[in-house]
Amino acid sequence: MNLNYIKPHEWKIIEEGFNKEHITASESIFSIGNGAMGQRANFEELYTGETFQGSYIGGIYYPDKTRVGWWKNGYPKYFAKVLNAPNWIGIGVTINGKSLDLSTCKVIDFKRELDMRNGVLSRSFIAEFDDGDIVKVLSTRFLSMDIQEVGAIKYSVTPINFQGEIAFSPYIDAGIMNEDANYDEFFWEILDQKETGDEAYILSKTLKTGFLVCTGMKNELILNEFNIDLEKEVSSSDKSIIYSYKTMVNSGDTFSIVKYGGYTQSMNHPDAELCNVSQRQLIKASELGFDSLLERQDKAWEKIWDTADIMISGDIKAQQAIRFNIFQLNQTYSGSDSRLNIGPKGFTGEKYGGSTYWDTEAYCIPFYMSTKNKNVAKNLLIYRYNQLDKAIENAQKLGFNKGAALYPMVTMNGEECHNEWEITFEEIHRNGAMVYAIYNYVNYTGDVGYIASHGMEVIIAIARFWSQRATFSADKEQYVILGVTGPNEYENNVNNNWYTNYLAKWCMEYAIENIELLKENYPEDYVRIAEKVTLDESEINTWSKVAGQMYFPFSEKYNIYLQQDGFLDKELIPARELPKSERPINQKWSWDRILRSPYIKQADVLQGFYFFENIFDQESLKRHFDFYEPLTVHESSLSPCVHSILAVKIDRIDKAYEMYLRTSRLDLDDYNHEVHEGLHITSMAGTWLSIVQGFGGMRNFNNSLSFDPKIPKNWKSYSFKIIYRDHIIKVFKNHEGCKFYNESDTPVNITVSGKEVTIFNKDLVIL
Ligand code: BGC
Repeated sequence: MNLNYIKPHEWKIIEEGFNKEHITASESIFSIGNGAMGQRANFEELYTGETFQGSYIGGIYYPDKTRVGWWKNGYPKYFAKVLNAPNWIGIGVTINGKSLDLSTCKVIDFKRELDMRNGVLSRSFIAEFDDGDIVKVLSTRFLSMDIQEVGAIKYSVTPINFQGEIAFSPYIDAGIMNEDANYDEFFWEILDQKETGDEAYILSKTLKTGFLVCTGMKNELILNEFNIDLEKEVSSSDKSIIYSYKTMVNSGDTFSIVKYGGYTQSMNHPDAELCNVSQRQLIKASELGFDSLLERQDKAWEKIWDTADIMISGDIKAQQAIRFNIFQLNQTYSGSDSRLNIGPKGFTGEKYGGSTYWDTEAYCIPFYMSTKNKNVAKNLLIYRYNQLDKAIENAQKLGFNKGAALYPMVTMNGEECHNEWEITFEEIHRNGAMVYAIYNYVNYTGDVGYIASHGMEVIIAIARFWSQRATFSADKEQYVILGVTGPNEYENNVNNNWYTNYLAKWCMEYAIENIELLKENYPEDYVRIAEKVTLDESEINTWSKVAGQMYFPFSEKYNIYLQQDGFLDKELIPARELPKSERPINQKWSWDRILRSPYIKQADVLQGFYFFENIFDQESLKRHFDFYEPLTVHESSLSPCVHSILAVKIDRIDKAYEMYLRTSRLDLDDYNHEVHEGLHITSMAGTWLSIVQGFGGMRNFNNSLSFDPKIPKNWKSYSFKIIYRDHIIKVFKNHEGCKFYNESDTPVNITVSGKEVTIFNKDLVIL
């Protein structure tokens, strides 16, 4: 049973009616963010029921000491975690001395809305106290996309059937702990507190990592739309500052507080300036006022939606879902800072530590690359470039040498954080995704110069890793890669995972190809890089030999590549024959049973077919899809999107649609029963891919952009835009045909369903 309580709407996420069981799920689903910070949709006022309070700041992390059963050499000593940050949204509300708390009041007409057009979260309800006092409450909150260090809340209370005293107690609280702290430790040190007028600031510092954060608030009081001055009472502790403003309010009058708040942090400003900058930002916000700040918010989001929106007509749930995915991706990463990345949960929870995974390279880059300026995707690549030294150190720790790099499975600053041997040491396919992302970026943007300026060093270091990680098997007279975990984490320590072997071979060949390219077209860069990394011609010959003699497990019987050696020894019972009561197997079965089973968590061989679709023919893709998909349980959020894309490619539109719904409404309908922990941000990029590359059939191989649009039967039409090199192309598809509009000033060549077309500037082509 999934949750399924979110009301369908084209642009809004809506919850109606108050249900305590939904609180933590809704706190995730209604999360807001602006790329620099984000927060779960916690209530401003006190809530004593079950809640998961979370506010996060991009780039601020803490190295939490590892907790592990049996230590293995090479394990990282810590797991970097995105830090649950000081709370600035809190507003205590007291009505005639009674605390407003939806856990204890009777709640009527509760409605929560997240407007995806402008990132505004609002909540309205009527609450009745035990003594019969009834109040109506409306709160509106957003994190400014325009002034990224600021957010704003307007919180209004109207007594319905009484006159009495209402008190607002806005506070900032730096006494916050991570939900997932390994040893229940406190990760912040409070350095300073400042109270001035209606403003307050707390300067705190993360232990060990030494990030400084100033959390601020500035309050304004309004009675029936007129600003009023009220004396405040202060009750501060060593970790928090609480102001309290009281007034008598008549029945039907509305008492409101506007609270501006947010963070400044030491990655962006000198330590000594943090509180001053914070104050300037909050004063600027209050001078602009709530409404103008909101207007700017509308404009900022309008600009984002202009290129990012996907319209689906005829299926409101699909429409709502795709916008939700696009919206959350934009809240998580805005792309201007190459020190930031996209955690699998973004700013919506703590699972996965908020760190960077291969998800960014394998899934997220195409989304940002096609909906934003190319520098956004480039910043994501530069993030890894800047961490190359750490990836080399990481490989050294495991015994590799001569500049071989192994990028971490999980990281904040380039160091490996994950400590399960089967993932840390074995899930090495992630290294291939780093190179694939460079290839993908250069191919799509045409920015070959990136190889010369940054990419080549990463590619060489990774080719070195693969050539050292492969072993020559005297028996097979081929190179093998032993003891790995493929993308399917439901099997560990396998030999010759096809996907890993294929990526390894491809990476080494891609390295050789690019060395040739540099020698020819960027000779000075070639010399610079060759010296910097002490490149030796003989190692290039080794890459060529290892790549050329790579072993791939293959079944003559099925005419398919095998996921790994021995895969056919398994009992190949399709997943659909498993009783519903035993799914998801990761919650119902022992790990031992999972490891022996044929069930695949997410695309593995098919991930390779997705990346390198141009190498394999359609028949081969069908055979592999038909063999592996029925064994796939899609228990990773990253799974349905790849299958959806490939299903369209082999004309299984119904299957593609089923997979599309699963990826796009994964969180809205809580398919995996875990939305309370946070949203699956990285897989949301997969949802975008399943429309643009799936139904839209967009491909970009060998400097050519092609489409092959298909449409699910119950959609009337869909349309999306992509930014391709200097062009913006709008694609529209319905059951009669498709249209391509070139919004830019220069012609663009594309291929549509195998036919080459030129679309002139500002022209429309109907096919
Ligand atoms: C998936 C990995 C992924 C991670 C973070 C896991 O469940 O199997 O492929 O990197 O989640 O999204």
